[in-house]
Amino acid sequence: MRAVVLVGGFGTRLRPLTDATPKQLLPVAHRPMIEHSVGHLAHHGVTEVVLSMGFRPDAFKATYPDGTCAGVPVCYAVEPEPLDTAGAIGFAARDAGIDETFLACNGDVLTDLDVDALIERHRTTSAEATIALTSVDHPARYGVVPTDDNGRVLSFVEKPPVGKAPTNLVNAGTYVFEPSVLDRIPAGRPTSVEREIFPAMAADGTLFAMASDDYWVDAGTPASYLAANLHLVDHPEGGTHPEAYVDPTARVCGSVIGPGAVVAPGASVDASLVLDGATIRENARVEGSIIGPKANIAAGASVTGLSVVGPGTTVESGERLDGIRRPEPEG
Ligand code: GDD
Ligand code: MG
Repeated sequence: MRAVVLVGGFGTRLRPLTDATPKQLLPVAHRPMIEHSVGHLAHHGVTEVVLSMGFRPDAFKATYPDGTCAGVPVCYAVEPEPLDTAGAIGFAARDAGIDETFLACNGDVLTDLDVDALIERHRTTSAEATIALTSVDHPARYGVVPTDDNGRVLSFVEKPPVGKAPTNLVNAGTYVFEPSVLDRIPAGRPTSVEREIFPAMAADGTLFAMASDDYWVDAGTPASYLAANLHLVDHPEGGTHPEAYVDPTARVCGSVIGPGAVVAPGASVDASLVLDGATIRENARVEGSIIGPKANIAAGASVTGLSVVGPGTTVESGERLDGIRRPEPEG
């Protein structure tokens, strides 16, 4: 089975971390997010991945110069312009010559979803496409997907107004597609799978879904990206990287500290992500926040409340950042 993985978005919600790095190359437990998703697909029998790229394709090619990611052969489909989710899937699948049942996935999703079970379910119905669903507390940020008792999708409502979602089951961003889905996607213009293709298929009665309560997170916001990292804090690959330095008088608790990062005497880091080469100086305090690569938190500063400090950015001595992005993203 081949999979198209979407990695071409701008990662706007994770700025400034994504100013120069595509979202899917940001680390989760010290490895680019995309390696977790591709590795998971490989575990379920995917033998080749087509990365559907727009924004900064060179960054992927530089990270995987030998054309493999998590041990899986990857090929690159680079859009001439952002084609939105369906346009991107169509472009990549045609580029790779896909003409049989295939998987398509959002590249910012981390999950333990049983992909084999999803494929199996797809095959037992007459579905043209089957989408994985997960239950969330706040569905308005996602694609909301009511189904009948047989799993047939009744309608697909992308990001409904808050309080208007008909169910808490949402699109989990992993799809099994018959190649006929490609005939629904016009070439050469931006098309949204969520706003155009899925609603049309739901109206035709050819779209099915399968819910599961497997671990699932869309790591596309500061809160969820931090949560994805903290989820793996006790994993052998998570926590403090062997090439980080934490002074014995510093206090690090429930946090991920990247390679080359330094936590100086008397500093404290709680429930936070400190990326590679960042420095937390004497008596500084970091709590529930993300410190970008090579950022510098000066002595006595405090960074709390889901603040995000960008790559190479300094927080001056004695400053207090609470729920702040630095630098403030434009627009
Ligand atoms: N190649 C390409 N081109 N990729 C794109 C483009 C594009 O024009 N636009 C977005 N992407 C990629 C993003 O990089 C990401 O991996 C994926 O498509 C989904 O885009 P997001 O921007 O992360 O969407 P979302 O999180 O708001 O919503 C989507 O995911 C939710 C679950 O994770 C939707 O599919 C929702 O329905 C879904 O519930
Ligand atoms: Mg997302």
